[in-house]
Amino acid sequence: MWRELAPVGRSAETGGYRRYAWTPADADCRAWFQAEATARGLSYETDRNGNQWAWLGDPAAGDAVVTGSHLDSVPDGGAFDGPLGVVSAFAALDELKARGARCARPVAVVNFGDEEGARFGLACTGSRLTAGQLAPEAARELRDADGVTLARAMERAGYDPEAIGPDPERLARVGAFVELHVEQGRALADTPHPVGVASAIWPHGRWRFDFGGEANHAGTTRIADRRDPMLAYAHTVLAAREQAAAAGALATFGKVAVDPGGVNAIASRVRGWLDSRAPDEETLARVVTAVERAATGHARAEGVDVGVVRESFTPVVEFAHPLRDRIAARLGGAPVLPTGAGHDAGILAAAVPTAMLFVRNPTGVSHSPAEQATEDDCLAGVGALADVLEDLACR
Ligand code: GLV
Ligand code: MN
Ligand code: MN
Repeated sequence: MWRELAPVGRSAETGGYRRYAWTPADADCRAWFQAEATARGLSYETDRNGNQWAWLGDPAAGDAVVTGSHLDSVPDGGAFDGPLGVVSAFAALDELKARGARCARPVAVVNFGDEEGARFGLACTGSRLTAGQLAPEAARELRDADGVTLARAMERAGYDPEAIGPDPERLARVGAFVELHVEQGRALADTPHPVGVASAIWPHGRWRFDFGGEANHAGTTRIADRRDPMLAYAHTVLAAREQAAAAGALATFGKVAVDPGGVNAIASRVRGWLDSRAPDEETLARVVTAVERAATGHARAEGVDVGVVRESFTPVVEFAHPLRDRIAARLGGAPVLPTGAGHDAGILAAAVPTAMLFVRNPTGVSHSPAEQATEDDCLAGVGALADVLEDLACR
């Protein structure tokens, strides 16, 4: 499975993955999922939001144990973030079969669409829509960098954007959701444990900062006459780092768009996206407010305008303790750790008992082609996931 998926959406230039929602690479990932489902005799369905499901047993029986993750990527992402959870889910079903396990509850593998939000800016679009945490009208109007709406992109990919929306009937069938994911830090790296269990997800969000100034000639405009939004933006980036470091939080400007983008012209507009995360919501709010205040002050000093729009927010997620503790015990006392990364599991946690397994990452690097996990650890992850599914569904 890993070898088949490996070339899909991979840039020959960087070695990174560019699997964005509703693109041809995404369609290839989806075709792969459907083929894996049918090859195993699982019943396959796509829900109203384009999430893919593969069922062992009768979905209508309810109280299903669901596992899976996502197949899309960040720009130049690694091979593991997302796909490891989907491939491991199919492999864990194969393992259960090899063990001769008889499952009393239905078991499903899921691929949630557009988890990273790389194209339309909003993460976990598929699971948010399903859980009723994103209004379908707002989702349809999301735009990519070329101005293409999500509705149009879905349509071009052969899906019906008018069908999207909350799916309480489908969620009601899910008794538990367990997402396996590559670890995105080094908490397990120096331990003897290839697999850990998630305790919580830090609250996090995305904010767009629009700085508007005046385009002018780089060679003839006196310093005193400039209204350069780049300067206000640059000061804001530095303020974000300072505020986050002082608060024990994280703040990152990882995406910026400059208009008109000429080397010999002062910019008319700089648009930067802040990603910020913290151990608790109060700290997060304090950091973001301080960054906004810094942006306003620097904008005033440079004679430019600034507007800030919150594009998304995910509150703190504390995974269900009974499920988490049962899984950690089943895995022989696996370490329990929090993460700053967002996941579909974090969205579903508001509706169903949810847990996550993390597979050790020797470098801790993620959202980069350098993301890694050894084959032995990936196989340990499959074994652990099979143990968990067997414990939950098969006795
Ligand atoms: C998703 O990986 C995120 O944490 O942004
Ligand atoms: Mn990710
Ligand atoms: Mn992920």
